[in-house]
Amino acid sequence: MIYTTKIYMPDKEKFKAYIDGIYESRCLTNNGPLVQRLEKKLEAYLGVKNLLCISNGTDALQLAYRLLEVEGEVVTTPFSFVSTTSAIVVEGLIPVFADIDGNSYNIDPKNIESVITEKTCAIAPCHVFGNACQIDVIDKIARRHNLKVIYDASHAFDVKYKDKHILNYGDISIISFHATKLFHTIEGAAIVIKDDALYEKAKIVRNCGIDGPDSVVMLGVNARMNEVEAAMGLCMLEEEDIIQKERKASHEFYTRQLKEYVQLQKKNEDATQSYTYFPVVFKSEDEMNRVREALLEKEIAARQYFKPSLDTLPYIEHQSIMVKSRDIASRILVVPMHSGIEPLVSETIIETLKEIRSKNYS
Ligand SMILES: Cc1ncc(COP(=O)(O)O)c(C=O)c1O
Repeated sequence: MIYTTKIYMPDKEKFKAYIDGIYESRCLTNNGPLVQRLEKKLEAYLGVKNLLCISNGTDALQLAYRLLEVEGEVVTTPFSFVSTTSAIVVEGLIPVFADIDGNSYNIDPKNIESVITEKTCAIAPCHVFGNACQIDVIDKIARRHNLKVIYDASHAFDVKYKDKHILNYGDISIISFHATKLFHTIEGAAIVIKDDALYEKAKIVRNCGIDGPDSVVMLGVNARMNEVEAAMGLCMLEEEDIIQKERKASHEFYTRQLKEYVQLQKKNEDATQSYTYFPVVFKSEDEMNRVREALLEKEIAARQYFKPSLDTLPYIEHQSIMVKSRDIASRILVVPMHSGIEPLVSETIIETLKEIRSKNYS
């Protein structure tokens, strides 16, 4: 079976060499030398400062709220991976959804201000599928209402907004380095913090509130990355340009083949294009289901990212229905971009749609 994502395995010999070093040093975790090296290399590669490696993206989101010491309601997107919402709930905050734009699939800034109340403390958008949010507009709203901004940039390793890496925006930006991501560390993530003092605090909070031998200075969590994960990251970083080149070619192929048949995500023109995912939206849920079945017959499992729409989660109190998010979630498929499968996927999509549509119009 071909799945939507395929985990990239970097050069085995290089990884083995790191593992040999880890065996020799017996240093497996606790802010080891490989984690520190990866942090410096990522800062240089991405052009960011104050980057810390974290155990995973979900922890990084939770850490962000904890660091900012916010209370109350967080205005967020209903269309993302579940952690964008669950981190808010786990930290004792209340997610309040603002519906997405039906073309970019990102939170629509026009819907943000109407749900801001005196209880709102932050805005938490996601650059979904690596498509940059309307950062300038969101920033203006945040400044007008004195709110923090936490960006979930988990899909945006390859994105610049107005010539700066996208992780530079917001009070805090996080990115997941989960095994399925464009850049990964098996499990892992990074948090990028604008304020220098908060960055220093994050180092302590990430380490259970410990700031030195026998000294616990604040309430913390264990959000440490380990040395094996950092070794994977160092190997991945060396091959990142090749990975991105391949994704770009697949992405461009799909765009050429499919643009007349399906809805493609409308990209933010102030940002560089991400080649991380290829989401396609069909005219109806029925079309999507028929295409998904046709692909499955050929052993290709395209995923319905992101379903469910997060306003339908069982632990969310009833709010207004996020009409656009639910609609896109019901009609979307993210197709695989690997293993040379792109021609077969696009042929299957086109043939299935032609068949369905010819029957509908006859
Ligand atoms: C948008 C988004 N946010 C957060 C996460 C959570 O990251 P992790 O799986 O590293 O906890 C993911 C992971 O897939 C994601 O896609």
